[in-house]
Amino acid sequence: MSKLTLNEEAARRRTFAIIAHPDAGKTTLTEHILLSGGAIRAAGAVRARGENRRTQSDWMKIEKERGISVSASVMTFEHTPADGIARMFNLLDTPGHEDFSEDTYRTLTAADCAIMVLDAAKGIEPQTLKLFEVCRLRDIPIITFINKLDREALDPLELLDEIASKLQLDPAPVWWPAQSGNRLRGMVEMGTGRFQPYARKVPGAVEDAGHPPALPLSEAAQYFEPGEQEELMEAAELVTGGYPAFDRQSFLEGHMTPVLWGSALRHFGIDELLAAIGEWAPPPKVMPARKEAPPETRNAPAPVELSIQPGSDEVTGFVFKVQANMDPNHRDRIAMFRMASGKFQRGMKLKVQNTGKSLSVNAPIMFFASDRELAEDAFAGDVIGIPNHGVLRVGDSLSESGMIRFAGLPNFAPEILQRVRVKDPLKAKHLKKALDGLAEEGVTQLFRPEIGADFIVGAVGQLQFEVMADRLGEEYGLEVIFEHSPYAEARWIDGDKADVEDFMGKYRGQMARDIDQAPVFLAKSSWETGYVTERFPKVAFTKTKERG
Ligand code: G4P
Repeated sequence: MSKLTLNEEAARRRTFAIIAHPDAGKTTLTEHILLSGGAIRAAGAVRARGENRRTQSDWMKIEKERGISVSASVMTFEHTPADGIARMFNLLDTPGHEDFSEDTYRTLTAADCAIMVLDAAKGIEPQTLKLFEVCRLRDIPIITFINKLDREALDPLELLDEIASKLQLDPAPVWWPAQSGNRLRGMVEMGTGRFQPYARKVPGAVEDAGHPPALPLSEAAQYFEPGEQEELMEAAELVTGGYPAFDRQSFLEGHMTPVLWGSALRHFGIDELLAAIGEWAPPPKVMPARKEAPPETRNAPAPVELSIQPGSDEVTGFVFKVQANMDPNHRDRIAMFRMASGKFQRGMKLKVQNTGKSLSVNAPIMFFASDRELAEDAFAGDVIGIPNHGVLRVGDSLSESGMIRFAGLPNFAPEILQRVRVKDPLKAKHLKKALDGLAEEGVTQLFRPEIGADFIVGAVGQLQFEVMADRLGEEYGLEVIFEHSPYAEARWIDGDKADVEDFMGKYRGQMARDIDQAPVFLAKSSWETGYVTERFPKVAFTKTKERG
């Protein structure tokens, strides 16, 4: 039994995600963070687990064939970094491929901090920038890790300038690298002058001996060629003068990013990164919410805005992802529930604010790197998986009272709209159910036109259709055909009832409903979207819709 108070439990939690452009090294870094944290014993385990999972689920074939990761998940581990405080780390895995940025976006809503991984030879790449903007929008502080120092890298000053100019973020180098590639000697900690030597892998050696222990830079001559040590000292001095020292407050407010360096593949700089996360990343944040009765409650009191403190008693939180169970024989789903407050205990009854439904959570899951375990208790910042049969949807707010509603997670207007048909017309009914299921999981969006029997499926990227077709086949036994649809864009519409109805009356043939029955206008071109926006100024045509 935990003897810590709710506040103390919350304070020792770190819930973070890794953001990166594909290939920058996110998977490798994840693996090595888990290694540093003692969650796995040998590198290669994350991949091995992936392989294992793939054999259980055929739709993961796509992941394998394309070498990308399409499903976000969480990994929890307890670790005591150098400062001696036992912390719970919840690492949220975000898919790197741009077709799945919507999923990534939702996952980031559950993170309190992000690790931005840059490839030292490439700097900031397009997907890094996109993901960074999401973090900025959601006030998520960022720790920068510049990876692949074991290869020839760009000039470190150039990398810092890129962070400053492209992200408008003050870089605070807390370590400084001594060269890169074949000449990488190690790195020095700013302020303390502690030097961490780098040991190159000896070709042909069976055991990787790891890196030598850190020591004061002034005593580290044996690790340098003549002149290099002095050069590093000078560079460190220059950098100390040229950049502001790390300031935690400024980091938490999103103005500054501490910059660390290393090589995920060579397990260099990883302990330092984990220590930085433990020491500087914020504990679970205070979350804005509303106290609001479920819809259609009689004589419901007016909603009240409030802030949920992580240490408050009531268990509250929200679902940021729904993952279909990998076993197609049991069509249950696991809702990823990020806790905002309270102490959750297995068997507890929670209510869904937006539907008024309640559920007993008897088999909550904690995801550890090597295993899944039943969660006996959990606190603010934790993510638990709640198995259910479609009761829980992305964006749902859960609490003991059923009266807490977190700001919804956004749905994005899809960029590709296709018509979907099932090859065997007798299975049309099954198709509806399957499409509903996938839309509830957030795999794709589903629009049902007001006129006609077609289903229009929307996605942010083409790959989502492939995932969908695969899953419809594997999990539902449906062979489907995607066809070109006449629509180019979807916009949710809002406004005064009379104005909305007037618009809908005029464009009945292009109106559809999403899975929440919200009205959606399907435009044939972006020109048409512009046209109706101008012609119906009182109607709002939006690209995102907050769910929940
Ligand atoms: P991602 O999840 O961000 O897409 O990147 P991932 O970790 O899969 O890494 C992409 C490639 O970069 C991999 O090589 C990986 O081994 C390599 N890599 C990651 N970190 C480092 C590093 O610190 N130094 C060096 N030199 N390489 C690194 P690959 O050849 O595509 O895959 P694999 O055959 O090694 O698995």
